[in-house]
Amino acid sequence: MAARHFLTLTDLTPAELATLMARAAELKAAHRRGERATPYAGKVLAMLFEKSSTRTRASFEAAWTHLGGHTMFLSPRDIQLGRGETVEDSARVLSRMVDVLVVRTFSHERLELFAAHSAVPVINALTDRFHPCQLLADILTWIERHGDVRGRSAAFVGDGNNVCQSWMEAARLFGFNLRVAAPAGYQPEAALQAAYTDCVQVLDDPPAAVAGADAVITDVWASMGQEDEAAARVQAFAGFQVNAPLLAQAAPGAIFMHCLPAHRGEEVSADVIDGPQSVVWDEAENRLHAQKALLELLLG
Ligand code: CP
Ligand code: NVA
Repeated sequence: MAARHFLTLTDLTPAELATLMARAAELKAAHRRGERATPYAGKVLAMLFEKSSTRTRASFEAAWTHLGGHTMFLSPRDIQLGRGETVEDSARVLSRMVDVLVVRTFSHERLELFAAHSAVPVINALTDRFHPCQLLADILTWIERHGDVRGRSAAFVGDGNNVCQSWMEAARLFGFNLRVAAPAGYQPEAALQAAYTDCVQVLDDPPAAVAGADAVITDVWASMGQEDEAAARVQAFAGFQVNAPLLAQAAPGAIFMHCLPAHRGEEVSADVIDGPQSVVWDEAENRLHAQKALLELLLG
């Protein structure tokens, strides 16, 4: 049987995502009680990361260790992929040795190529287009604060790339509405905008996007691989900072989310990210619990 991959959020059905959220909450409660089950004893999870990571790497390593397994971290600096061995050959070889592969890379096509040649499940740990594991934790966090998110509204303010585009997919799959505020030239891909008109509106006006929203989300202005554009992006995103006056436009009790790492004074003001509406530390912790539930779903 072909391996089941998780490359975008749409690889899971709404029913599977609902089950995953409930299971993640159970696993979080069990973790809090100090309970440990080790169903993956003797199994290996490999992480192949071509970009830096704190949360994704640490949460997968901790999750798999809690579940009894062994993890292997593979950097392109150390493996032959970094010296020109092909993606296809790397996937064929590694997937004969390990039980699941977690891959962070640049182009989404590179991840798809890797998955196409892997005999075991491949999990997207971030590409330039999507960050589905982040959304599992984000929606779990939103549910913890507001209950069912169906029919609610979220506003994403900032760069319309990977995290934003996974939020767009989440809107359809979880049944909420998303307004995106991004400057021209930094908006989500046109094809995705066209595919999500029923649940996503893309604007260039942060207060209009945030008005009445239950959750306000942002992300860095210069993503990994865009370091050379950082100064130009600070200019382009002027007026797109999530700060106290902007968050005041949201619904009473609205939460602020950020995948992290954050740049205080750029995409978010310090008083917002460190303030009472911010749930960013729960969001980071929930990577652990949501990914355990994902691993169970993919591996059984
Ligand atoms: N949010 C997130 O994916 O963080 P890392 O880049 O630290 O993994
Ligand atoms: N948009 C960011 C997300 C990091 C988790 C990046 O791609 O660098």
